[in-house]
Amino acid sequence: MKKLVSLLLIATFVMSLLALSGCGKTEEAPTTPDTTTETPEVEPAAPSADGTVDIGIVLPTKEEPRWVQDEARFLAALDSTDYSVEILFSQGDSGREMQNVQTLIAKGIKVLIITPQDGDAAAAAVQAAKAEGITVISYDRLVTNTDAVDYYITFNSISVGAAQGQFLVDNLAGGTGENLYLYAGAATDNNAFLFFEGAWNVLQPKIADGSFVVQNSSKAVEYMNKTELTREEMGQIIEQITTDWKPEVAKSKAESHITAAPPSGKTFILAPNDGTARAIYDQFAREDGLEIFVTGQDAETASIQYVIDGKQSMTVLKDVRDLVQGAISTATEVLEGATIVTNGEYDNGAVVVPAKDIQVITVTTDNVKETIIDSGYYEASEFTGL
Ligand code: BGC
Repeated sequence: MKKLVSLLLIATFVMSLLALSGCGKTEEAPTTPDTTTETPEVEPAAPSADGTVDIGIVLPTKEEPRWVQDEARFLAALDSTDYSVEILFSQGDSGREMQNVQTLIAKGIKVLIITPQDGDAAAAAVQAAKAEGITVISYDRLVTNTDAVDYYITFNSISVGAAQGQFLVDNLAGGTGENLYLYAGAATDNNAFLFFEGAWNVLQPKIADGSFVVQNSSKAVEYMNKTELTREEMGQIIEQITTDWKPEVAKSKAESHITAAPPSGKTFILAPNDGTARAIYDQFAREDGLEIFVTGQDAETASIQYVIDGKQSMTVLKDVRDLVQGAISTATEVLEGATIVTNGEYDNGAVVVPAKDIQVITVTTDNVKETIIDSGYYEASEFTGL
């Protein structure tokens, strides 16, 4: 039997407009498992003969390399399945996300794999799927405050934040009173809280003892002696330092933070992901005489080049091949009625969701060749100066 991969690339009027409200509340989880290269060769779309689709996949936006890579890795992995699959993008819009889910429901999907644009806003969409007996798998980001989520396939986001925080602490080298600038992801993304929580766990003792001095968040300064923050307290800090996951927001915040609290000498920056890290780095690098330590995550090709060039100090490799494999194997197990083995759980504010929790790797100039090239994640030819 031939694979039936159906890729519907939603017509591309790039709508934007961020969606709706709030945040959920969540906990952490324990641990796990590993797979190919750049843009895989894929045969485009073909729904099954009767036009139905088995597995529907909804991803948040094509505007970030991270999610374009997920699509490519899905297509590569699906090459070996007999199930029909369709991938839709929500382009940063929860309304469009709901439409995508409805389109897939109408095509008879039995499993929905979804990365919500906004964790709370996506609850209505997954409830609609659930009402039709569809199994819902939250992919990378958790859909919050609904009991309509069956499984969560994720990287261990607390450990992503911890790796970022640890990198900054490791480079303190006994210093005191060092400048620390904090940035976070979008408050509508539960992951932004998990990343911040992981980083805070490591950074807070070094803020409390004066090794680091936070320059751009009065709330982080107010809570500097708290080893654990409530969801609400974290929300207050994130509100001050959010990038909304947008490089342009990160850039303009960095610009005003530099004006309000000019950096000098060693400058430590917690940047939540690669897109924002490069924007923040570029802004700080305009200042003379700084030694910049800036974090990231996603191992985007542009950031791997920044790491090689000694600009971005680190990134966190979240091997999307593993995440895709986890989602596809779970969907297949559901379709075949097999037992699903999980290794973690996350409270989404309404229920505790069983999870497949995947580990991450810190990438710096010291190990970039081994982790990124030798592992087959990207081709060496994509970079200069390796
Ligand atoms: C993902 C990150 C990504 C960010 C912005 C998060 O939920 O885990 O990998 O960089 O969203 O899209």
